Parts: sequence; C-alpha cells; structure tokens
Amino acid sequence: MVKSYSKNANHNMRRPVVKEEIVDFMRTRQKRVSGSLEELENFAHEENIPIIPHETVAYFRFLLETLQPEKILEIGTAIGFSALLMAEHVPHAQITTIDRNPEMIALAKANFAKFDKRRQITLLEGDAMAILLRLKDFYDFVFMDSAKSKYVVFLPEVLKHLDSGGIIIIDDVFQGGDVAKDIIEVRRSQRTIYRGLQNLFDATLDNPDLTATLLPLGDGLLMIRKK
Ligand SMILES: C[S@@+](CC[C@H](N)C(=O)[O-])C[C@H]1O[C@@H](n2cnc3c(N)ncnc32)[C@H](O)[C@@H]1O
Repeated sequence: MVKSYSKNANHNMRRPVVKEEIVDFMRTRQKRVSGSLEELENFAHEENIPIIPHETVAYFRFLLETLQPEKILEIGTAIGFSALLMAEHVPHAQITTIDRNPEMIALAKANFAKFDKRRQITLLEGDAMAILLRLKDFYDFVFMDSAKSKYVVFLPEVLKHLDSGGIIIIDDVFQGGDVAKDIIEVRRSQRTIYRGLQNLFDATLDNPDLTATLLPLGDGLLMIRKK
C-alpha cells in the first residue's frame, strides 16, 4: 500500500468532473470563434441546429493544429460549421463531408460557396452508409457526428477507409448519461440508441486493433486510433 497519500488526498478523482459550472466555464472562458464561424454558430443556436458545442470547438482547434491531418472525412455536415472549423485549422487538408438532409445540404452548400476560401471541402449528398460503400479514398482523420444508433454500423466501413495510425472521433456517445445506466432505467424510445452505443463501446473499447478513449466533452467523445 502506498503511504505517501492519505485516504482523502486525491479528492477530485472521486468527484464528477463535468459540473454545470465547469461546462459553463469551458463554454465561456475559451477563445471564441470569430468571423464566418461566429456567424454560423449564432445561426445554428438561433435555429436549434445541433453543432459541436464550444468546449469541443476548443478541443478540435488544439487537436487538429497538432495533428495536421491531410485527408479528413466527416459524417454529418449540418450547416457546415465543423467542416469549416476544421478547414480553418488545417489549411492544407482536404475535407470530405457527408449529409443526407436536403435542407442542411442547401445551407451547407451556400456556406461552403461563401466561406470555404481555399476550396478544401467536398460535400457528398446521400445516406452515409451508401456513400461509405462506394468511397475509394483513405483518410487519416474521421469525425462521426450523425445518428447515434448507426455509429456501430458505419464503423467497419469507416475503418476500411482509415490509414493505420488514423483517428476517428465520434460525437455524442454518452446519451445524456443514459449509457451508464441499466437499460431498464432508459426510456423505451431511447433504447435503440442505447443498444447501438453499447455495441459501439463493445466493438471499440477493448479491441486489440484499436486504442480508444472516452472524453467528457459535450455529450461525450469517443476517440479511436487504428493501430
Ligand atoms: C449533429 S448534426 C452535424 C453537425 C456538424 N457536424 C457540426 O458540428 O457543425 C448531424 C447531421 O448528420 C446528418 N445525418 C444523420 N444521419 C445521417 C446519415 N445516415 N447519412 C448522412 N447524414 C446523416 C443529419 O442530416 C445532420 O445534418
């Protein structure tokens, strides 16, 4: 037994990290986005369009500037906010982003025409699974931000298109905390998502071919590295 630390020494380790005031702090204290990204962020908030929250923006900014991926794949474009954020911080990357919602596609197209100054972004229209099956390219960074129950279905196809050493980030994997509960305590309408996410954790967290970690940013990020 280690004697250097008293029973209560690591007090913070036993407390929930993401208290409401900490989330608020992460959202307000970290450098804001500006210009076109600020315009899109405000629009998304006014229209209730789900885009990555600010703590995830700050993390992506740091991670992408550090990693400098060359080919990025995104599943779930919405209005193009996260794609344009990635383009801003990795100016040499080619970004392919997929969405199937006609309203979002129209908005994303207009935003890319206006704000994708270096013409880095290609929007593929249609269901992600159908597009993944005919994709030919390889990617070194994938961001999955679409229907939660489908992540585990998309994963094998995404892995086929991921370089060794490549990274996948999957957004919104905590289901507002439901994933930590027993299925009996989860609302019936949420159980398909719950099962999909549990299958995703089963397929990734102990997979010997992958290194995976969970981060409590937004509604949870699952990060996967292909060995
Ligand atoms: C949360 S939004 C994406 C937000 C965006 N990544 C951002 O942060 O700016 C999810 C998007 O995924 C799209 N989507 C959901 N399921 C899809 C599927 N099976 N194929 C293609 N797009 C899908 C939806 O139409 C929606 O626009």
